[in-house]
Amino acid sequence: MNASYPDHLRDEVERYLEAMRFSEESLTAGLDEAMRYSLLAGGKRIRPVLALATARAVGLEQREVLPLAGAIELIHTYSLIHDDLPAMDDDALRRGQPTCHVKFGEDVAILAGDGLYAEAFRHLLTHQRSAPERVLGAAAELAAATGVNGMVGGQYADVRPHTPAGPTTLRRLHELKTGRLIGASVLCVLLLAGIEHGPETAPFRRFAAELGVLFQIVDDILDVTGTDDALGKPRGSDERHGKRTYVSEFGIDRARELAAESHRMAREALAEVAGRSSLRAAAAPASSGHPRATAELEGIADFIFTRTS
Ligand code: IPE
Ligand code: IPE
Ligand code: MG
Ligand code: MG
Ligand code: MG
Repeated sequence: MNASYPDHLRDEVERYLEAMRFSEESLTAGLDEAMRYSLLAGGKRIRPVLALATARAVGLEQREVLPLAGAIELIHTYSLIHDDLPAMDDDALRRGQPTCHVKFGEDVAILAGDGLYAEAFRHLLTHQRSAPERVLGAAAELAAATGVNGMVGGQYADVRPHTPAGPTTLRRLHELKTGRLIGASVLCVLLLAGIEHGPETAPFRRFAAELGVLFQIVDDILDVTGTDDALGKPRGSDERHGKRTYVSEFGIDRARELAAESHRMAREALAEVAGRSSLRAAAAPASSGHPRATAELEGIADFIFTRTS
């Protein structure tokens, strides 16, 4: 297995995020500080790296999608700040640092999350230099993936005790809570590349969706088997809050098997992607068709499956 994470793409994302500033006046400088504190505290950057790797797989230059990638990481960071709040998972450690509300207070943390969400769309709509209809398509997908039929809806199902039990609901919860934003990191790039949504893109969409679910199954496993140090967040948070997870539903061994199954399905879908030369950006010259344009995506899928942090 090629579990090599594309660190060169991660470095590029890191540099891009470091250059971001949000406040234009002293009145709001403290809010900017709280937003950048959580944004730059570390993090694997899986979603933006996935966006850059997808761009390369379809023949775009990775830097062409950096504004989209940055916007996705802003939204992800907002979701973590709110997820850690006392009213949600009540966690004090994130990315190896005190959580935003511990450091700045709950009121500021809520606003830092709100600010990151709005600034994400401002950034995407202001800086993404693709044809306007493509940018709008990507923005619509990003909003859908993070709204009621995506991440926020999944978080709602996660916190409500009356969410029904059972594997089908649990998988759906993971698709919404985590899967759709990870999926959007791939799908938004296809939209920016002008690749029409249709039967040809089905394997790409299957890959994106499966990868998102795999990510959350592994997150559930690591919540039991990881360490605070490696994870940069408190182990055992799910059990403390009686959360329904792949481990609580199936036990650790079966959860591991299901992760392996999910990884295999993601890899199979990706192999199909690699076989379809039509999945290249309209603007990409035919010669850019590298035989294994999906190599970085394979590395990300393997990393997500085998990660320990
Ligand atoms: C954690 O995401 C939240 C989930 C969706 C499970 P990551 O594990 O990607 O967190 P960072 O960005 O690396 O801190
Ligand atoms: C949160 O899931 C997913 C989000 C949308 C933020 P978790 O609550 O399992 O994430 P961690 O384990 O705190 O990172
Ligand atoms: Mg949570
Ligand atoms: Mg949590
Ligand atoms: Mg978790």
